[in-house]
Amino acid sequence: MQAWASARRLEGARIGLVPTMGYLHDGHLSLIEQARRHADAVVVSLFVNPVQFGPNEDFEKYPRDEARDLARCEQAGASAVFLPPVATMYAPDASVFITEERLSAGLCGARRPGHFRGVCTVVAKLFNLTLPHVAVFGQKDYQQAAVIRRMVRDLNFPVEIVVAPIVREPDGLAMSSRNVYLSEVERRRALGLSRALQAAAACVAEGGAAAAAVRARMAEVIDAHALQLDYAEIVDAESLEPVAEARRGNVALIAAQCGRTRLIDNRIL
Ligand code: PAF
Repeated sequence: MQAWASARRLEGARIGLVPTMGYLHDGHLSLIEQARRHADAVVVSLFVNPVQFGPNEDFEKYPRDEARDLARCEQAGASAVFLPPVATMYAPDASVFITEERLSAGLCGARRPGHFRGVCTVVAKLFNLTLPHVAVFGQKDYQQAAVIRRMVRDLNFPVEIVVAPIVREPDGLAMSSRNVYLSEVERRRALGLSRALQAAAACVAEGGAAAAAVRARMAEVIDAHALQLDYAEIVDAESLEPVAEARRGNVALIAAQCGRTRLIDNRIL
C-alpha cells in the first residue's frame, strides 16, 4: 500500500483516503465523491477494526460483503481499495496505541470505553499506510470527526480532514451499515432519532432555549418511538462540552438502543 501511494506521490498525484469498515451504503459513496473532488487518486480502506470494538460489541457479526463493496468502489471511481487482514494490521504483541484525552471523554466515548483509542490508532495507521493528502470522514460520527481533527492537529499529521454531510434515507433515518440489523418494526422506531433531532432544531429555531428543556424534548420523542435513550446532548461544536443554553451552531447528538442495535445521529442546530 505504501509503495503504491509513494509512486502516486512521485507522479505528483494528490491522494485522498476514505476510511471505512465496509458494507458500503450511499453515505460512504458520498464520501468517495467528496474525496474525488479533493484528490486525484482515491483510496478506500475496508477494514473492520477489532481494536475499536468493546468485548460485548458486534465485531464478529458486523456486516461484511467484500464483493459488493469492491464493485461499489469501482463504480464510485476509487483508484485503489485497501483491505488488510487483521493479522497484518496488528502484531500479536502490538503495544502502541493513540489516546485522545478530552473530546473522547463524553458521549460515545463514555459509553464505549476504548472505542476512540481504537479509532485513533487505526486511522493513524491508515494515514501512515496510504499517505493521503486529504481524508474524508462522515458527519454521522460527529464525535469521531472531532477526535480525528484533534489527533491530526496535536500530532501534526500532514493530512487535511474533510467532513461530509450525513446522508439520510427519504424518511430521515441516517444511513448506517448497522441499519441492516433492524427488523421492520425497529426500522420504523429508528425514525425516533432523526425526529428527536428535528424537535431539538425546532426548539432553537426562534432563538436560544435551555439545553435541559431541549434534552427533555429529545428524550420524549425517543420514548414515543419505544427506543431506549442512551444519551441526548447539546454541545459546543468544537469543544464538545455540554452547553447550558442551546443556540444555533451548537450540535445535538443522540444515541439510542433500538432492540439490540445501538444507533447514533446528530444535527448542527
Ligand atoms: O467510521 C468508521 O467506519 C470507522 O470508525 C473508521 C474511521 C473507518 C475507523 O475504523
